[in-house]
Amino acid sequence: MKANKFGKNGWTPERIDDLSGKTFVITGTTSGTGFEAAKILLSKNAKVVMLNRNPKKAEDTIKTLKQEVGSHCNVLNITLDLSKQASVKKAAQEVLNTVTKIDALICNAAIAQVPKHTLTIDGWESQMGTNYYGNWTLQALLFPLIEKSNGRIVTVGSMGYNMGIKTIKFNDLNWNKDYTPNNAYSQSKLAQIMSIYELQDRLKEAGKTNVKAYACHPGASRTNLINTSGSLLMRFMFFLMKPFTQSAEKGAYPQLMCATEENLDQTGFYGPTGRSNWVGPVGAHKLEPHAKDEAVSKKLWELSEKETGVKWNI
Ligand SMILES: NC(=O)c1ccc[n+]([C@@H]2O[C@H](COP(=O)([O-])OP(=O)(O)OC[C@H]3O[C@@H](n4cnc5c(N)ncnc54)[C@H](OP(=O)(O)O)[C@@H]3O)[C@@H](O)[C@H]2O)c1
Repeated sequence: MKANKFGKNGWTPERIDDLSGKTFVITGTTSGTGFEAAKILLSKNAKVVMLNRNPKKAEDTIKTLKQEVGSHCNVLNITLDLSKQASVKKAAQEVLNTVTKIDALICNAAIAQVPKHTLTIDGWESQMGTNYYGNWTLQALLFPLIEKSNGRIVTVGSMGYNMGIKTIKFNDLNWNKDYTPNNAYSQSKLAQIMSIYELQDRLKEAGKTNVKAYACHPGASRTNLINTSGSLLMRFMFFLMKPFTQSAEKGAYPQLMCATEENLDQTGFYGPTGRSNWVGPVGAHKLEPHAKDEAVSKKLWELSEKETGVKWNI
C-alpha cells in the first residue's frame, strides 16, 4: 500500500488554516459526523450554514455549538428534509437568498438500514430518495453559486458502496422485489459516490476546473445512524461492533479534509485507511472499479435528471 501523504497519523484537522471569510453548507448536523464537522469548521472561524430537517433539534444544536465553540460563532440553520424534493428545492433557494458564496457543500446527512420497504412522498425507495435523489437535487441547485465561488462538493459515502449488489438496479430501482435494508442502503451510497465521479467527468468535459468534487466516507463511527432508522436487530449488531469502531469526531475528518485540503486529488476515495477501512489514519484508499463504471454512472445521471426533473447547469 502507498504511504499516507499526510504521514503516519493521516490527515487531521490541525492542517486546517484559519477559515475566516469562508462559508460551508452542510447537511445533517444534529448528531454524528455532521455535528463534529460543523464544530471543527466553526472552531476555525468559518461561517456554517446547517441544513437540518428538525427545527427544534437544529436550534438545540446551535445552542450546543455556541456553548462548545463560543457565542461568537457564525452558524445558522435552514430547514431541509432530504426525503422531500419540494423541501430540498425550498431550502436550496433559501441558501441562495442567504449566502453570497459557498466554499464547500458537504452532503453528509443520510438514513440507513431502513427495516421496511417504504417510499418517499416523491415515490422513491426511502434510502434512494433521501440519500441519493435528495442530495442530487441539492447539489444541482446550489451548483451555480458553488461554481461562482470556486467551491467544492463533498459527498459522504460509505464502504457500503462495496456491499449489496455493487451496481445500480435499473430494472427495479425502488426495490419492489427483493427489498433488503442493506442492499437498498448500499445502492444509495454507491449512487452517491458514482455521481461524484460522473460530475468530475462532466466538469472536465465542460472545461470547468474551478469546481472540485470529492467522495469520502467516515469508516465505522459511533453516531446515531443506526439508532435513527435501523431495526432493533441492526442496532444490536452495531452495538456488538462497538469495540471495532471509532469516534464520530474521527469520522468527520474525511469530509473535513475533502472540504478544506488544498490540492487534493479528486479521483481518490477518502476515509480511514486502517482495518477494513473502518478506523485508522485518514487518507486516500482503494476504490473498487464498479464505483467508477462509466456506463452505469452515465445512465444513472441521465435517469436522475429524468426522475427529479432537475438539470445541472454545467
Ligand atoms: N456512522 C457510520 O459508521 C457510517 C458509516 C458509513 C457511512 N456513514 C455516513 O455518514 C453520514 C453521517 O451519518 P452519521 O453516521 O453521522 O449519522 P447520524 O448521527 O444519524 O447523523 C445523520 C444526520 O442526517 C440527518 N438526516 C437524516 N435524514 C434526514 C433528512 N431526511 N433530511 C435532512 N437531514 C436528515 C439526521 O438528522 P435527524 O437528527 O433529524 O435524524 C442527522 O443530523 C451519512 O451519510 C452516513 O451514510 C456513516
